[in-house]
Amino acid sequence: SHEKKALFIIFGGTGDLAKRKLYPSLFRLFRKGSINKHFAVIGTARREWSDDYFREVVTDSIQSLKPSQQELADFISHFYYQSHNVNDTEEYKILGNLANELDSTYELEGNRLFYLAMAPRFFGTISKHIKSEKIMTEHGFSRLVIEKPFGTDFETAQQLNSEIAAVFNEDQIFRIDHYLGKEMIQNISAVRFGNNIFESLWNHRYIDNVQITLAEDLGVEERGGYYDQSGALKDMVQNHILQVVALLAMEPPTLFSEEAIRTEKITALKAIRVYNDQEVKENFVRGQYVAGKTADTNYKEEPGVDENSQTETFVAGKLMIDNFRWAGVPFYIRTGKRLSEKGTRINIVFKSTPINVFREADTSHKDLPDNILTIYIQPTEGFSLTLNGKEVGDGFNIDPVKLNYRHSQENLDNSPEAYEKLLLDCLKGDATNFTHWDEVANSWKIVDTVRETWDKETTDIPTYPAGSMGPHCAFDLLEKDNRQWVWEP
Ligand code: BG6
Repeated sequence: SHEKKALFIIFGGTGDLAKRKLYPSLFRLFRKGSINKHFAVIGTARREWSDDYFREVVTDSIQSLKPSQQELADFISHFYYQSHNVNDTEEYKILGNLANELDSTYELEGNRLFYLAMAPRFFGTISKHIKSEKIMTEHGFSRLVIEKPFGTDFETAQQLNSEIAAVFNEDQIFRIDHYLGKEMIQNISAVRFGNNIFESLWNHRYIDNVQITLAEDLGVEERGGYYDQSGALKDMVQNHILQVVALLAMEPPTLFSEEAIRTEKITALKAIRVYNDQEVKENFVRGQYVAGKTADTNYKEEPGVDENSQTETFVAGKLMIDNFRWAGVPFYIRTGKRLSEKGTRINIVFKSTPINVFREADTSHKDLPDNILTIYIQPTEGFSLTLNGKEVGDGFNIDPVKLNYRHSQENLDNSPEAYEKLLLDCLKGDATNFTHWDEVANSWKIVDTVRETWDKETTDIPTYPAGSMGPHCAFDLLEKDNRQWVWEP
């Protein structure tokens, strides 16, 4: 059978992530048989909960998946709760005993997955105790799964990494970036390496610029406290956006394998230019939302946010990749809260033909429209490609057409959720879609210089109205290069 045997120990088992993502994903895996009889889940957190109460919480968290009575009863019988203070060595002994007991009850063969769904400041102490109190097993696998933020800059990330690396080897560490679990992010590699018509054009000779937009319509919701300390640069660029850049920019792997892909991604990230102060000012802009069409509160008034906050809720930038493939090709990136819509898209804008032979024939006398390959990540998933054709009729006017493909609703409904895919990868020990330490390190180096420059600014952060696509400076960034953001609502 394809059943995977494992004990899941979830630190932060009462938290939001566990309820919104982990329990539903575990249930989906259960339904598909990827986990079945030989698994158990220990939820831990400070709160004193009983197993029964925990099982009720888990039940609530999977309601939308409409489990049958039988499925539900089976599933939740595998869940156990242990209240736990992460700083108390004695309590790890209790946890370890429970783990061993469940291991033998469910015949888990010593396989353990430690999922740290809590603040990174606890990662070090938890890892240390997992080892010293022998909760790691000597037979079977022991894997550590951690959530972002992985540090707040290069230095703190390095510190954090050395704490966990003292206990776990790199191949036991699974750093989650949930964008890497998204179907269409994974599809980037299929489009690039499965199509010679694209891969052979995928370089500075034929590509004019690349645009990556991760737009959100929501504001900071209940996460003002966290977000105000973080800002869009650390929340989205350091991880998700730079991962997407790496996938788009990397050299083809010799084989589609974890080892080869990670190696090429790391090389690509290392080639991204790290800017000095002056270059940051020229190439990065930021903004903060104020009341507008889609919201009547300013960011500064959100719960948990400092009333004088200078934190960016929007960032746009131009990245340059200094290697043979990408010399001179800007990668424009942008992301923000309270933009006009939720939309994650990649646009590959190709160079125009050497000359426009239709310049006299076409009565509009316009430039030839660009060929653009768009990859739609979410909410719709698919591709489009714009090509130039001839307008039907007399004369010779050029008429751009758009070949458009989107996954069907049925396809979307059946596609596994990002966390489900990533959890299954962890169970299989496949770290392809997780970030290697070298990727994290290089991403921080790129982001840190931007942050440092901004921290020295004395002028107020630019603003943009809720429901727009960001501050003026984000449009100016491309206009000064004689380019524009490609975006059709
Ligand atoms: C998270 C950020 O990593 O990604 C959030 O912390 C953001 O601020 C979220 O809203 C976006 O993810 P998705 O999957 O909704 O695009």
